[in-house]
Amino acid sequence: MSNVKQSENLIELAKNAMSKAYVPYSHFQVGAAILTKSGKLYSGCNVENAAYPEGTCAEAGAIASMVLDGETQIKDIYVIGHGDALVTPCGGCRQKIREFSSADTMIHICGAQGVRKTLSMEALLPFSFGPENLKQ
Ligand code: THU
Repeated sequence: MSNVKQSENLIELAKNAMSKAYVPYSHFQVGAAILTKSGKLYSGCNVENAAYPEGTCAEAGAIASMVLDGETQIKDIYVIGHGDALVTPCGGCRQKIREFSSADTMIHICGAQGVRKTLSMEALLPFSFGPENLKQ
């Protein structure tokens, strides 16, 4: 599959996930889609909670789905939301993505018009702490 087609597929997957968001409090829908190094696809949406801090982000949902399927290597992650401001992953999600990233992992920030910005993991979370830091 061409890179353009794959990118379109992932945006569509993220968009579909976004439409399922459970957001009765913020009304701010977010969707995320992951392509793993092995070529598998996963998606997630944000799921809020009446006990506000218990809500989970779209990225966390997609990562949980990936791990449940036995995959741990993110090649690309697409995040989509509405509005003028870029829907960049929150700080916690940057760290969650980092856990499953490598030097060539790319984070694509999307909107209605498609990909608005693409960032490397290093650009999104410089000087990060990861699994390597715990190796003796
Ligand atoms: N949200 C995400 O799902 N991902 C992010 O990276 C940014 C924020 C969600 C959390 C909450 O449900 C809503 O957006 C408003 O903060």
